[in-house]
Amino acid sequence: MVKTIYAITAAVLVTALFVSAVAWVVLRPAPSANVVEIYHWWTSGGEAKAINALVDVFKTKYPDVAVIQSPVAGGAGYVFQAVIKPLVLAGEAPDAFQMHAGYEGKPYFDGGYLDSITNLWKDEGWEPVIPKVVRDMVTFDGNYYAVPVNIHRVNVVWYNKQVLTSNGIDPTTLTTWDALFAACSKLKAAGVASPIALGDSGAWTDTHVLEQIIASEGIDFYQNWVNGKVTSATDSKLLDALTKFKTYLSYVNTDHSALTWDQAIAKVITGEAAFSVMGDWANGEFLVANKVYGTDYGTFAAPGTEGMYGLCIDCFQHPKGVKHPDNSLNWLKVVGSKEGQDAFNPIKGSISARTDSDTTKYGLYQKAAIADFKAATHMYPSVTHGSGAPTTFTAKLNDIMSAFVMNKDVSAAATALTDATKAASADYTTVWSL
Ligand code: BGC
Repeated sequence: MVKTIYAITAAVLVTALFVSAVAWVVLRPAPSANVVEIYHWWTSGGEAKAINALVDVFKTKYPDVAVIQSPVAGGAGYVFQAVIKPLVLAGEAPDAFQMHAGYEGKPYFDGGYLDSITNLWKDEGWEPVIPKVVRDMVTFDGNYYAVPVNIHRVNVVWYNKQVLTSNGIDPTTLTTWDALFAACSKLKAAGVASPIALGDSGAWTDTHVLEQIIASEGIDFYQNWVNGKVTSATDSKLLDALTKFKTYLSYVNTDHSALTWDQAIAKVITGEAAFSVMGDWANGEFLVANKVYGTDYGTFAAPGTEGMYGLCIDCFQHPKGVKHPDNSLNWLKVVGSKEGQDAFNPIKGSISARTDSDTTKYGLYQKAAIADFKAATHMYPSVTHGSGAPTTFTAKLNDIMSAFVMNKDVSAAATALTDATKAASADYTTVWSL
């Protein structure tokens, strides 16, 4: 009897294995399958809708190619970076992956993991329509290695209009950090428990705010910072920036460490909070929540950064030895195209990286951003978002800021930041002139 049961079980198992093996052979994508695989970190409501719109443009142009999206959740790519690097280093790079312009691509270029796409740039006619400031950030040793899909502005304060109006706060007066903090105190007194929304489960959002405060210390100071020249732990501007960030933290929600950036923005959308400093991917969240710019929400430049445009630029590239090289290049063509960018950016919150975009497709926030970009007195590369400083420095930033948010020790953070700069001194190879 027992023997019979064993025999039946074995037969069932063997059959199941056989059926699975046949299914695998039949159903698995053939290595030569006509696909393009792209990796990115666009998983919030607005982000996912935007990348799907870009994929749709690709599908209409290349209907025979299946697009495999491999999204890795975690704003600013803070989880993504740890996933993509080992793949690229192991020669398993996908056909294209999201990457910030500037320093973030340098290790891949230095290691010989990317193909030059200068010919593609020429063939597609991108040079005349993409501003020099952007072109320079995707160029290594005189060749192009990436295609920008957008330009995000990082120095933006998002606010809930109803909360400000009903508390008699005029956003146009909030041009200094002191004025913003005074408005927060007023809101607190009126019962708004946490006037500023923060979601720093990924500590990059802390770094993001500090970065805008550093810019508000003046473009010269920011330039010194990205050129690796802020090396004194007693630098008065660095200490002032950290002190202001400490005050900022005194107005944020107590559950900040449990929330993501988009959950924080949701608090501004619902009116639980009044303000949040965030890049303009936040606009995508207001849009998917059907909020109207100028009626439900508004923005102003981070105090002290009026006229400045902090840059965060998403790109794709052509890794060496990818499985579907033609599809990879065709993906890049769509990424760099006017049609692709004008489908993606109106949803994403960013502006097109192209100067010939069809502005009628963009909402009121972005129309204002396009005007601000043209009129900007200074542009500065975001460090939080991979562009402004070497990866050997940025790799330490979020840990330093996490510790600061816990202990609020200005002097310890200044020491850690300047130590990290000194340790990476040999890697500051770009000389920014902002
Ligand atoms: C990216 C944006 C993205 C944001 C939040 C930034 O680093 O450039 O495209 O929406 O992170 O995930």
